[in-house]
Amino acid sequence: MKALVYQGPGKKALDERPMPQLVAPTDAVVSVTKTTICGTDLHILKGDVPTCVPPRILGHEGVGIIERIGSGVTQFRPGDHVLISCITSCGKCEYCRRAMYSHCATGGWILGNAIEGTQAEYVRIPHADTSLYPVPPGTDEEALVMLSDILPTGFECGVLNGKVQPGSTVAIVGSGPIGLAALLTAQFYSPARIIMVDINENRLAVAKRFGATDTVHVAAGEASSQVMKLTNGRGVDTAIEAVGVPATFILCEDIVAPGGVIANVGVHGVKADLHLERLWSQNISITTRLVDTVTTPLLLKTVQSGKIDPKRLITHRFTLDHILDAYETFADAANTGALKVLIAP
Ligand SMILES: NC(=O)c1ccc[n+]([C@@H]2O[C@H](COP(=O)([O-])OP(=O)(O)OC[C@H]3O[C@@H](n4cnc5c(N)ncnc54)[C@H](O)[C@@H]3O)[C@@H](O)[C@H]2O)c1
Ligand SMILES: [Zn+2]
Ligand SMILES: [Zn+2]
Repeated sequence: MKALVYQGPGKKALDERPMPQLVAPTDAVVSVTKTTICGTDLHILKGDVPTCVPPRILGHEGVGIIERIGSGVTQFRPGDHVLISCITSCGKCEYCRRAMYSHCATGGWILGNAIEGTQAEYVRIPHADTSLYPVPPGTDEEALVMLSDILPTGFECGVLNGKVQPGSTVAIVGSGPIGLAALLTAQFYSPARIIMVDINENRLAVAKRFGATDTVHVAAGEASSQVMKLTNGRGVDTAIEAVGVPATFILCEDIVAPGGVIANVGVHGVKADLHLERLWSQNISITTRLVDTVTTPLLLKTVQSGKIDPKRLITHRFTLDHILDAYETFADAANTGALKVLIAP
């Protein structure tokens, strides 16, 4: 089968790879009908994710049809239409029982990281019963791909951890798909202001259309002073870091108001300075999280009811044969205007 293979920092190829086989009785093999590329895949390609050892098929998002199931799978049959969660969970270990699926003892974020991923014709899904979701009949498959990772990530790591509240002021640093997913789901709680920060004008224009009240273009001056000006010198109640570089985490430290929360979402490859000499007295909280995907069923209902329309994040469509072009388009978002690029067989 065809698959996108990470071959070491800076190197990837569309390769021919063997069909995945059932390894454990709880596995399923899924024929991937839609997948996409995540900002995290770009981090892997930069060499930021040491758990991802090449050669590795990338991808942790997708929708598909069950091809084969192991004898221990009870919730799905071959032919079932399924949403693949970016987090694999056994449902039984100590962390799963605490709804912290991201730290499942035999799962977590392993797809396209520690095991072969979804940017291929077929993928093996361990713990299929608890790592796949049935696709309700009539639901738009393209919109559902946004539920594998980006919507739960923006919601759980950004909005829920960031304690967004009615009337509060929120800054989201990074207006990529994850930042925009946080923007869409923050609006469940009616914050008074949502300030989006980015270096990309096009993504800020999209953010305005998605409900941002204000945008801050980093090149237009020091971002922190712009945010402080917008908040009358007070700062923000919630600062969501959705980039993954030291500068943006430090920006969150600069703009968080007393009593506020810095909710880190970004995957960081290097250390970032923590200015405790200033923050120790500010009653702030700093949260980090690997998405647990515990909110996937809830988010699925908001998509089904039309409360949010994540399909608006899809800007480009490619076939798997052209996945290298899809990577180029996604990585060059400043020029291509790409948000989520959809890949089908
Ligand atoms: N915690 C988790 O479980 C989890 C899950 C998925 C993704 N992530 C991470 O979330 C982050 C965002 O993902 P994405 O898919 O939206 O990535 P992305 O690369 O598409 O978006 C990042 C955005 O940040 C902007 N940016 C870059 N440098 C900036 C700067 N100095 N100041 C302001 N903006 C800047 C870019 O223009 C871009 O719009 C990534 O680090 C990704 O790895 C985390
Ligand atoms: Zn991801
Ligand atoms: Zn578990």
